Amino acid sequence: APDIDVKAVKADLDQLQSIADANGGNRAHGKAGYKASIDYVKEKLDKAGFTTKVEEFDNGGAKGYNLVADWKGGDESKTVMAGAHLDSVPAGPGINDNGSGSAGILEVALAVAKSNLKPTKHLRFAWFGDEEDGMVGSKAYVDKLGADKSKIDSYLNFDMIGSPNPGYFVYDDDTRLEKVFKDWFATKNIATEKETEGDGRSDHASFKDAGIPVGGLFSGADYIKTEKQAKAWGGTAGKAFDACYHQSCDTSKNLDDKALDNNTDAIAHAIWTLSS
Ligand code: PHE
Ligand code: CA
Ligand code: ZN
Ligand code: ZN
Ligand code: ZN
Repeated sequence: APDIDVKAVKADLDQLQSIADANGGNRAHGKAGYKASIDYVKEKLDKAGFTTKVEEFDNGGAKGYNLVADWKGGDESKTVMAGAHLDSVPAGPGINDNGSGSAGILEVALAVAKSNLKPTKHLRFAWFGDEEDGMVGSKAYVDKLGADKSKIDSYLNFDMIGSPNPGYFVYDDDTRLEKVFKDWFATKNIATEKETEGDGRSDHASFKDAGIPVGGLFSGADYIKTEKQAKAWGGTAGKAFDACYHQSCDTSKNLDDKALDNNTDAIAHAIWTLSS
């Protein structure tokens, strides 16, 4: 898999920050900043040659949107999916939560196009709406799949991958998918832990509940980094992985560039490996 340039990921995050700034400071469900952010991501994917769809749902009297992007080719009865929620909480611009996962999978998708990848399995990327009110967008997506659920080979979720005081957590829900990520971190000599803070708390839960194998990465939210974790990963013991979690200070400064870089490269590795 190619090395993804973290500068491109950061440039997307600067754009998401600007969109929030111009729209009341957030990308929350039902707010103008959300749809403007969907439009930003969609335009880049369309230009790169993806087939994109915006799927609508309703929650709390407001329309929500999921953006789904398919890369032509590969066996559609074995679809490998990567997803991230693009909505933020109303309190702030949500750059780590979850601009980071959204921009990370966007740049991996653009790398798929740039390399003109011809995967054996079909590839699909998704940006979900209204995760913050209980994974509403991803639930709507999985419900709508119906019998096509069995065609999803695997779903990889990325929610918070650039936390400023980062940890390296790998979802442990499925051994095969967990191993793909662990192998990549092992080659980089980066220690990982099993992800436990997020069980059932992000869009992968919608897929897991439907019997679809899930995996993913997470760099930590409001749990506190231990001494032992600070020894393994650097950063500050006794401080939250993301002290700005769900706050107005989750801005484009609320990132660890190295974690964002490592996790984005790990996503590329997983996409290339699982779809081959
Ligand atoms: N889903 C949570 C949120 O968006 C954060 C989270 C992500 C928690 C991943 C655990 C694992 O606020
Ligand atoms: Ca990189
Ligand atoms: Zn959140
Ligand atoms: Zn989140
Ligand atoms: Zn777990």
